[in-house]
Amino acid sequence: MTFYLETERLIMRDLLESDIQGIFELDSNPDVHKYLGNNPIKTLKQAKDSIKFVRSQYKERHIGRFATIEKSSGNFIGWSGIKLNTGNKEVLGTKRDFYDIGYRFIPRYWGKGYATESAIAVLNFGFNKLNIETMCGAAETGNIASNKILQKIGLKYIEQFPYEDEMINWYELKKENYG
Ligand SMILES: CC(C)(COP(=O)(O)OP(=O)(O)OC[C@H]1O[C@@H](n2cnc3c(N)ncnc32)[C@H](O)[C@@H]1OP(=O)(O)O)[C@@H](O)C(=O)NCCC(=O)NCCS
Repeated sequence: MTFYLETERLIMRDLLESDIQGIFELDSNPDVHKYLGNNPIKTLKQAKDSIKFVRSQYKERHIGRFATIEKSSGNFIGWSGIKLNTGNKEVLGTKRDFYDIGYRFIPRYWGKGYATESAIAVLNFGFNKLNIETMCGAAETGNIASNKILQKIGLKYIEQFPYEDEMINWYELKKENYG
């Protein structure tokens, strides 16, 4: 399966093994992991394994996060996209078997509206190309940027629940209420 999405300033495509340095830069940064359990990666092997995991999702779940490229520089800036959470290991509180919209960028690319721009395209792709019925989003309550993005792209706040010593805001949007 090959994915390709374009916005005004970004390209989203399959995550490739050759993105390893970019993923390492992204996921070894403690600032990036501040609201993601504070457990940044330490080795290139971990970056390689996470790329492998995403690529296995493309095959097995027919969707996964997309590598995101800044058009103006051609640089890998992080990822944005949809993850199908499935099985007992990917449960979030009482939530299981759901399509999660998410984004994660290298800090020097923050504050330019890229996450919002990518998430708008991803949401459209999820509803109109993949025909997903319900798109979900989860963000720690302290993660202001992420909460803003989920609301701005149209997801509706549903509830709050505790998860691993933090509070999570949970959002959903149904296809019938989109657009
Ligand atoms: C979350 C993240 C992707 C946001 O990326 P971004 O490209 O900077 O986001 P945007 O520029 O589209 O900004 C979205 C909104 O949040 C606001 N914002 C961004 N960072 C903020 C901060 N630290 N505090 C308050 N507001 C912030 C922006 O001003 C913007 O609001 P506006 O539309 O009202 O102007 C980025 O911070 C990141 O990669 N964080 C680490 C990973 C992560 O937490 N992912 C989400 C997990 S739920």
